[in-house]
Amino acid sequence: MASLTVDSKDPIELPVHAASVGPDVIDVSELTNQGYFTYDPGFVSTASCNSNITYIDGDEGILLHCGYPIEQLAERSDFLELCYLLLNGELPSATEKDDFVGEIRRHSKVDDQLRNFFTGFRRDAHPMAMMCGVVGALAAFYHNSLDITDASHRRDTAHRLIAKMPILAAMSRRHALGLPFIDPRDDLGYAGNFLHMMFAPADGDYEVNPVLARAFDRIFLLHADHEQNASTSTVRLAGSTGANPYACIAAGIAALWGPAHGGANEAVLNMLAEIGTPENIGKFVKRAKDPDDPFRIMGFGHRVYKNYDPRARVMQQTCREVLDELGVENDPTLQMAQQLERIALEDEYFVDRRLYPNVDFYSGIILRAIGIPEDMFTVIFTTGRTPGWIAHWCEMVAVPYKIGRPRQLYTGASRRDFVPIEKR
Ligand code: SDX
Repeated sequence: MASLTVDSKDPIELPVHAASVGPDVIDVSELTNQGYFTYDPGFVSTASCNSNITYIDGDEGILLHCGYPIEQLAERSDFLELCYLLLNGELPSATEKDDFVGEIRRHSKVDDQLRNFFTGFRRDAHPMAMMCGVVGALAAFYHNSLDITDASHRRDTAHRLIAKMPILAAMSRRHALGLPFIDPRDDLGYAGNFLHMMFAPADGDYEVNPVLARAFDRIFLLHADHEQNASTSTVRLAGSTGANPYACIAAGIAALWGPAHGGANEAVLNMLAEIGTPENIGKFVKRAKDPDDPFRIMGFGHRVYKNYDPRARVMQQTCREVLDELGVENDPTLQMAQQLERIALEDEYFVDRRLYPNVDFYSGIILRAIGIPEDMFTVIFTTGRTPGWIAHWCEMVAVPYKIGRPRQLYTGASRRDFVPIEKR
């Protein structure tokens, strides 16, 4: 139990719930009955829910999915296997994996009428705007499986979203280019199909590079889930109203779009382009440290990690593999990013605040090297994060839950009477 004493009043006893790993939590729900709210802008010290899916130790730079370290999953697993783990809590047997992959393949079709949604977008529409629209619209196509209390409906929805997200993502790009949409092929894996749908010419004749496909699968895997980040919390909050899962995932996509969150990968490359040359790095690092300058080193810092983001290490290694495979030596953007990282990691401002590269710092360099346009970077993140979003949604709605409804510290006017306009 925790005991809270306010001024000289009697102490308020608050239960403490034990975590299996990491910090225990103090249950403050009783406080409202004692006339208090807790105050925690940005939820820095607030556990919003109980979850078994992902654990992060920000001080040690540890990321576990159902107990498995991200480094081992990145090296020895694959994206669809991780999707299964996030949804079911255990790694699949060979048979379970084959069945799951087959189930995802079964859902890998997009209704012709949904394809028509893209024709309504301008060619220069940002693909994230298209994704917000078409993913939310999926609810209009699956009326017969929207009973969120039915586990089979929840399962089908999860498989449907994982299957369709890369197809919709590639469609948003092909719409921008005025190219016909291409369907996934049964002879290609998840990431290989995405690359094929993205880059194949109209006649469909495109050879997927297996090294790039493996790298892309790892990029999806590294983005799959990350505890109660802003977009996942958005999915949970929307889900707590009983909203349908497609609307909740569309809300998560909208939240991810922000440059402080999933939009950072696109912002990193824009930042490196703005810095322009290695000689300018010092000037921009100086700006990043100036409290009066809004400029921040994009891809650096994290609400939870006060150590190296373990995903960033794997991403950096993947970056080298991709550039080697593409025969790109001395990529100036990678060299600039590595120099920026070195300078920042030695600067006391960043050291004192424990600011390190995060998952977004290197991902954009890989994506651009593969030929993904910058406005598609967050769409890639969306595709990778879909299993995490829907796993958290399923975890929440599978058991009794309360609608999310935070309170506030009110500092506005106290009660006063209305003043007629002639007396103002
Ligand atoms: C993702 O939550 C997740 O898990 C997210 C994510 C996921 O997988 O879902 O990991 C994905 O969103 C990664 C983060 C991508 N965003 C960026 O790279 C944008 C740049 N980073 C910053 O905007 C910032 O670091 C945040 C938003 C990521 C975290 O902000 P916090 O936790 O609110 O930290 P803060 O702003 O309170 O920073 C603490 C101090 C401040 O200085 P002081 O006021 O103490 O003097 O560090 C400074 C900040 O000014 N700071 C930075 C900085 N990040 C923080 N200074 C310069 N450059 C930066 N990038």
